[in-house]
Amino acid sequence: MRATSNIQFSNGDLLPQLGLGTWKSEPGEVAAAIKAAVRLGYRHIDCAAIYGNEREIGGALAELFEAGEVQRSDLWITSKLWNTAHAPADVAPALRQTLDDLRLDYLDLYLMHWPVAASPTGGVVSLEEVPLLTTWNAMAEQVGAGLCRHIGVSNFSLKKITALTEAAAHKPEMNQIELHPYLQQQALVDYCLANGIAVTGYSPLGSPGRPAGLVSADDPVLLHDPVVGDIAEKLGVTPAQVLLQWALQRGTVVIPKSVKAARIEQNLAAVQVALGAADVTRLNGLDRHRRYVTGIFWVTKDGPYTLASLWDEAL
Ligand code: A2P
Repeated sequence: MRATSNIQFSNGDLLPQLGLGTWKSEPGEVAAAIKAAVRLGYRHIDCAAIYGNEREIGGALAELFEAGEVQRSDLWITSKLWNTAHAPADVAPALRQTLDDLRLDYLDLYLMHWPVAASPTGGVVSLEEVPLLTTWNAMAEQVGAGLCRHIGVSNFSLKKITALTEAAAHKPEMNQIELHPYLQQQALVDYCLANGIAVTGYSPLGSPGRPAGLVSADDPVLLHDPVVGDIAEKLGVTPAQVLLQWALQRGTVVIPKSVKAARIEQNLAAVQVALGAADVTRLNGLDRHRRYVTGIFWVTKDGPYTLASLWDEAL
């Protein structure tokens, strides 16, 4: 079993820096993936209500606990509040549903999944109508109620995380964002780390399994990048391992998704890869501000969200 390093929160809680992602892990395959991961040494699982697989994950966790293979306190479990539950009265029921599905008494971390609100039927609603701070304050109440230990956000731009950090009484402790050498977002990472906000990078491998709606024919394939391949060959490791170690060395948390035991093992073994300073410099040189998860699904005709307003950047 390999130990990953940890990120320490201000109350002393430790978050294993490498965890298992579960976006696109199908209900029929996710339980086996969770069990394989925990048996290989993963102690951090990243979930979300919208992934549609929390019931199966809960079943796998219950099996592991019942067999005594691992205890609840050994694991770090994150989940996320979906857009349709941003209204303050909807936050606690959404969290309770996730806990029920995962068969847990508490989450280690609960994140606001997107800075996007939607009506219960799914149509987007403006942030003037349901402000992020209002949703956030309802999430903070859940910490007080003991349903989650830490709260944070996901997909927050530098502008949005700064505004929330300055306005909120309960400070965010995590921003989970897309991060890899093609999308390094250094200013956003620097702001978070300087303000006690840990950063998790999703799609660290360039999201090769992303939904068809997010794929264009001319998309660069991160796992096939010649610089990544060259470093991998030199070190005798895989391109995925180079990308994961790059993320770890940056001080970010990283959550590669796989449902294949061999890749789950390979990804965890990335914690032992030794990237040299020259390798890191070459990888840093790949930045091109290229998002794979563009957020285009929130942009509707005459709707309140545009890509520019979502990411707070000129496009
Ligand atoms: P699979 O689940 O079939 O292994 P990301 O975390 O960037 O979104 O990447 C996840 C995608 O990459 C999934 O499609 C997953 O497929 C695949 N993947 C996971 N680990 C590896 C790996 N070590 N090498 C190549 N592809 C991988």
